Amino acid sequence: MGSNTLLEWIKNYLLNLDDLEIIVLGRSKKEQSLESRIKDIVLGTEGVSYLGSSINFKEIEVFLKRNVKYVKYDLRFPGLGISDDYKKALRRFPIDFFIHEGASTDLRLGASISEISQIINVSGTQKILELINQLLVKEFVYVGTAYSCGDVSGDVDPDFINRTDEFRNSYERTKLEAELLVREYAEKKGLKYRIFRPSVICGRLMESPFGAINKFDVIYGWGAFFLKLKLKTLKMSFESGLKTNYQMDVRICFRKEGGLNIVPADYAAKLMFQVCVQNLPGKNFYLVNPIETPHDRYLLGMIKAFNINGVRWVSNIPNDQNRIEEFYYKTVGRIFTPYINATPNRFNDKNLRVMTKRQGLICPEISDINLKKLISYALTKRFGL
Ligand SMILES: NC(=O)c1ccc[n+]([C@@H]2O[C@H](COP(=O)([O-])OP(=O)(O)OC[C@H]3O[C@@H](n4cnc5c(N)ncnc54)[C@H](OP(=O)(O)O)[C@@H]3O)[C@@H](O)[C@H]2O)c1
Repeated sequence: MGSNTLLEWIKNYLLNLDDLEIIVLGRSKKEQSLESRIKDIVLGTEGVSYLGSSINFKEIEVFLKRNVKYVKYDLRFPGLGISDDYKKALRRFPIDFFIHEGASTDLRLGASISEISQIINVSGTQKILELINQLLVKEFVYVGTAYSCGDVSGDVDPDFINRTDEFRNSYERTKLEAELLVREYAEKKGLKYRIFRPSVICGRLMESPFGAINKFDVIYGWGAFFLKLKLKTLKMSFESGLKTNYQMDVRICFRKEGGLNIVPADYAAKLMFQVCVQNLPGKNFYLVNPIETPHDRYLLGMIKAFNINGVRWVSNIPNDQNRIEEFYYKTVGRIFTPYINATPNRFNDKNLRVMTKRQGLICPEISDINLKKLISYALTKRFGL
């Protein structure tokens, strides 16, 4: 989401780049500095493709040097790891939009994951609020998740808050807890704010290369489980293992008539950008796909693309599990069954409809054709394995 957000802002300012200044809060990685990571995102092949092949490479390079400030931070560190002097220096720049997207997105269960989610998502957001208290921020934007709503059925409004304390995992709980901190802080301080809640993010489907994404979790993670298992059993190279037909007797429990709300990352970034710059009325927005993707389409679609046979739908978790099923329901199945077997609901995105119509923004459906594009791209990256 972060890369798509950045690219979308730059794309919209290509004709007047001098009017855009960005402060990127981020981390360096291994040997790569934050500045170099951002340069790769924007001026790497996929970034250039997002911006449009006619861009002036040199001009963007200058923009990244002159108009972008790179602030190394970590949501786990006291004061975010930013020195007081630097914070004072940042106060000289009035900020139109402060977008907080960083988070731990680990859906796994367990005490240690819960602790990390609490530190990064909740305490980290608290630290971000302490930071903006020292800056001149005109509008605060928080990216939450649609699935913090829990297992609710029917129409879910964008300002719905799950007060049941029933969540599928600590990720959902901590993302909502952080959202509530943002609301409380902003209301108290009279700060303008918006909350965006994306559903399940998939690769790009509006800006080429289609399928582009840099992390293969959530639905991709579900697929990667089966691909990894197949490759490990066959003991073949990725390419030969993928092509080989393989029988895997697994019964997957999911709601047959149900679906998952899967939204392309570029579409979500475009919605967010337009809401902010058009100053749309409202504080809460679902960034979702108007058309749900049936579970059997994307789940069994991935299995088919991996040339795995024998995976079947069942309405209940089987009691007489074979070895693979035991493994599945203890690991990936444990994380995903609450999503793929959930009560059907519908995230209400009516407050975006006038804008999307005006802008001609149409969310790509995860049709069989688009699913193929997502899978093909993910396979070029070996599903992150
Ligand atoms: N993926 C989904 O399906 C989905 C759905 C709904 C909502 N969201 C929300 O969308 C936002 C972006 O998620 P994403 O899917 O794009 O995940 P992502 O690629 O893992 O992005 C998370 C970002 O948070 C940063 N981050 C993690 N721990 C950090 C720390 N300790 N200090 C500073 N930065 C840290 C990561 O930095 P590095 O790059 O340095 O690791 C990364 O840039 C999150 O708020 C997430 O909750 C995601």
